[in-house]
Order: sequence, then structure tokens, then C-alpha cells
Amino acid sequence: MCGIVCYVGNKDAKPILLEGLKRLEYRGYDSAGLAVQDGEKIRWSRAVGKIVELESKLNGVEMKGTIGIAHTRWATHGEPSEENAHPQRDRDENVFVIHNGIIENYHTLRKKLEREGISFRSETDTEVLAHLIALNFTGDLSDAVRKTMSQVEGTFGIGVIHRFTPGEIVVARRGSPLIIGVSDEGHFVASDVAAMARYTNKVVHLEDNELASVTVDDFSISTAQAKHIVRSTETVEWRAQDAELNGFPHFMLKEIYEQPMTVKNAIRGRLEPGEGVPKLGGIMPVWDKLKECRHMVLVACGTSHYAACVGKYIFEKLTEIDTEVGLASEFRYRKLNFPPNTFVIAISQSGETADTLAAIREAKRKGASLLGIVNVVGSSISRETDAGIYNHAGPEIGVASTKNFTSQLTILTLLALLLGRHQSLSLTEGIQAIRALESLPDLMQRVLSQANHIEAISEKYYRCRNWLFLGRKYNYPIAMEGALKLKEVSYIHAEGYAAGEMKHGPIALINPEMPTVAIIPKDEMYEKMTSNIHEVKSRKGPVIAIATEGDDRIRDVVDDLIEVPATLDFLNPLLTVIPCQLLAYYCAKFLDRDIDKPRNLAKSVTVE
Ligand code: AGP
Ligand code: GLU
Repeated sequence: MCGIVCYVGNKDAKPILLEGLKRLEYRGYDSAGLAVQDGEKIRWSRAVGKIVELESKLNGVEMKGTIGIAHTRWATHGEPSEENAHPQRDRDENVFVIHNGIIENYHTLRKKLEREGISFRSETDTEVLAHLIALNFTGDLSDAVRKTMSQVEGTFGIGVIHRFTPGEIVVARRGSPLIIGVSDEGHFVASDVAAMARYTNKVVHLEDNELASVTVDDFSISTAQAKHIVRSTETVEWRAQDAELNGFPHFMLKEIYEQPMTVKNAIRGRLEPGEGVPKLGGIMPVWDKLKECRHMVLVACGTSHYAACVGKYIFEKLTEIDTEVGLASEFRYRKLNFPPNTFVIAISQSGETADTLAAIREAKRKGASLLGIVNVVGSSISRETDAGIYNHAGPEIGVASTKNFTSQLTILTLLALLLGRHQSLSLTEGIQAIRALESLPDLMQRVLSQANHIEAISEKYYRCRNWLFLGRKYNYPIAMEGALKLKEVSYIHAEGYAAGEMKHGPIALINPEMPTVAIIPKDEMYEKMTSNIHEVKSRKGPVIAIATEGDDRIRDVVDDLIEVPATLDFLNPLLTVIPCQLLAYYCAKFLDRDIDKPRNLAKSVTVE
């Protein structure tokens, strides 16, 4: 959702905070603001729009001080306006708060405070925090924040400074991520390491219902019940340059091109080719239970949910495990009745998606064991699951997820292969799968080498306002993911359908202005997909086919053809999704969209 960055150290805070905000901008970007303390005064500034707006407002404005808090917002309560931007402050302008999350009982609290004579300046839920902390303050900022935590419901990651406690930042979390960074220049607190990666890779994770008082040379963590916590620093593997464009015009394109490498990173050190079995160290703590598992549920949201949908087919192909997929946002409304030894696997790039977290908490309550497939090391999902597998895909900055999707598919394949080999999958099949996985990065490169051709196809169709994506079996979720990508970055309306469903409704839409992207690799679905293409063509709908190299039969039928190399049928999605990503990217480019930060979206959705 939003991004928080706080700094207390021996350098000027303003440029450090602005730089940190820019690195967090992908998380939320409708308005931004910061507050800096110089020992006596707190100066603050806020602006609607991107960080550059705040930056130009602050250009030439002196803001002395080596301690400050900053925020990039993704509005939940109140439109994006200067008054609703953070920091929010109390009546006397003593307390300044930045907040990520939602205060669910803010309405009741606001009414109560208004009855007590406090007038509100903004429409945000956050403002109640500023007033409450001010009212609860008797000289110790941590105590005031702790007391406030006991009065509010909902989710928060907050950073607070007070005029009368110069030199100290108090941060607290319940549900929204916060990380303390330890460097020679002082201490940072941020929603993710990207904000501090230039200064340090030594971090300490704050847990739910904990707060920390941070000063230039110390930090002290305690619980909401005032119990002192000792936690040592961890070293994170992300480097500052991972979060830079390195010559690409957009992060989305950079991340699409990184896929051969991120798939390599997902399999690196995890294959035993001779045995036809992967090694996954992260799941060893639960291995005895997991190898007996006969029921599995994959839960996730958005793109990660489509990875889960492909994963279900892969599990059915390679294992004897009965596998279902759950949309995390719907999961806890179900009456869950798991068979014994059920594993629920949460799939999440950020590891912070509120719906996915809520789903695993409910699954745990109902007795399931939990695994995580997560990219962000140390994130909430990685810590709340019993065991898991990291993607090692590096930071994904583009709001539209690309490299994580293929990385998730790779990890799901490894897991299915490992379990399958302990069931009925033969050595030959295991070796064949591992060889195919190893050759994927080169095959992906071959798909990427057609970027110019895919750009030309996008130029031909980007003015069409409605698109249809069709696929079957492994490629049905790719049709949904292709449609999602196009919607997200180009704002073109697109539907992803199981091709067999087309004649049950969507066929009514087909006309010469509506392109259909048909995903038709040479697999067991080929003939049926061919019939679907003919059905579209007979209604004068243009067809762009994503087909296996050398498929001359389909070339003669369709309007445009994008070729992908042949691989094992269950690995096709790792190749067929790339043209879908590139079509979305280039259409958005021709439409001059804000590709890395599409309107209304946020990278990490930490509210339900
Ligand atoms: C992907 O393009 C979207 N931004 C979104 O659907 C995303 O995949 C979803 O919010 C889940 O995020 P997660 O993987 O971080 O849990
Ligand atoms: N709920 C707060 C608001 O609307 C914070 C939103 C955020 O996380 O950016 O201002």
C-alpha cells in the first residue's frame, strides 16, 4: 500500500527521506509528505501527486534537521489532497504521524474526540492517531504510542515524532510491515529495504504489536505490553542497483527481461539432476509431514493467484495430491473443513498482502499446516508460515507483476516435482523435468528476442478498446494473467477465458474491432484450441496466436503469430506468458500510460 521512511542520524534528513520515498513510490503514489525535526522546531511539507511534486515544492526550501519521517500515500480514507496527505498532526502541532494501513474504529474515535472539542483538518483515519498520541503524551513518546495502540483497531505501521522529544522517532506496527535499518549514518525505519538499500543491508524486523524507539545511536524494541525485546540484525541480499532502471525505460520492461535470470535464481542450487529430484532446504522443517500430504490448497491474490491456478494443474500432473486453489480475498468466508494433514500454501511476491495473510491465519485456526512461496525475505507471510521457499527474484518495482509470476511457476514446479518423486513419478520423468527446467532460461531469451515483432503487433491493435484472451488447461490461467496485465497497465478492457467457455457467452462480443489472443502451444489442447480460433475467425474477429515455433498450420489461419519454443506441456506457461506481458507493455507505451505506476493501483495491498 503506502510507503514509510524515517531517518535519524548524523546527516541532513530531507534529501535522505526524499530519496527513500522515490524508492518506495511503487507502493503508493497519490500524494506524499515529510516532516523534519531540528531539535526545536518541526517543519513539514506535503504535495499531491508523485514524489517529484513534493521535491519541486521543497526545492530551495531550507529544512534543517537530521531526524524526520516521510510517507507516500495510497488513499483509503479521503481523496488524495494536500490536507489528507501525511504527516498528519495534532491540534498544537506537537505530534506528527505517518501511517500505512486503516484504523477501523476511526469513525467512533473521531466522533468522541470531536465531542471533546477537537476539530479535524483532514478526512483521513490517520488523523485520530495524531490527536490520541498528543492526548496520551505525558513526557514519554513510547508510552503515548503504546496507549494509543490499545485504543485503535485495524492495521497500522506508523512513524511518530514529537516536538518535546527531539532526537527520537517512535514506530509501531500491527499488520503493516516496518523494518529498522542499522547503518554508520544512523538508523532508518521503512516499509521495505528499498528505501535504505543505499545505506545499509543490516535490518531488524518489527513484529506485529511491537513498537520501537529509535535514536541516532540506538534502538529499543518493546511489545504493546511494554515487555522489552532483544532481536539481532539480519543481513538482506538486495542491492541498491537492483532497484534502478539500468538503462531500461521502465521497471516493467526491465523485469520482463530479467526473467531468464530470475528463473535461474529460483532453481540455482536446488536441482539434483542425476536423481531427478529438487532439493528445497526451506521446507525441510516440515518435510516428514509434507511428504504424506494428500490435500493441498494454494491461496493468493491477483497475479500470484493465477500462478496458483497453473500450479494446481502442475500438481495434478506430477503428484497424487488433491490440489485446490483459493482466492485469498474470499477464503475466510468459506466453511473450511480440511482433511487431516492439509497443507495451505500462500503465494505472494510481497509477503504482505493483507488478504493472503488473513487467509493463512484462518487456515491455521482450522488446523492446516502452512507453507509460503514468497519473494520478500523476512516479510510477514514468510514469518507466519511453518516453512517456505523464497523466490530470490530481487525487488520487483513495476506495479504490474511479471518476473515474480514466472519465478512462482518455477518454484511450484520444483515443489510438485519433489513431492511427485516421493510418490509415483519415475526417475526418467524426474530427470526429463529437471532438464527442461534447466533449459528454460535460454528458451525465454528466444521469446524475448521477438520483442520488436510483438511491439509491431501492439501498434496494430492498441486502439482496440476490448480484448479477449483464450487458453486451455495450463494456459487458461495465462489467458487470465494476460488480460490482467493489459488492464493494469494500458487500461484497455480485457477478459481472460477458458477457451471452452467462449461459446457459452463471450462469443457474442466477437467483431472486427475486438482482438483475441489465443494461446495455443502444441500440446494435448491443440486441436480444441484450433477449433476455438476458427470460431473467432468465422465471426471476423482478428486473432493473435501464441503458438509453438514452426506451427505453419496455425500461421495460415490467424492474423498475427508469436512463436514460443517447444518445451514440456506443463512448462509452456513460463514461455507463453512473456508475449502477453510484452503486448500489455507496448500497448501501454503506445497509449502513453504511466506504466510502472498505473492509476489507482499499489504494489503491495496491505488492507483487506
Ligand atoms: C499484479 O500485477 C498485481 N499488482 C497484483 O495482482 C498482485 O499480484 C497481487 O496484489 C498480489 O500481490 P502479492 O503477490 O504481493 O501477494
Ligand atoms: N488510511 C490512511 C489514509 O487514507 C493511510 C493509507 C496508506 O496506507 O497510504 O490516509
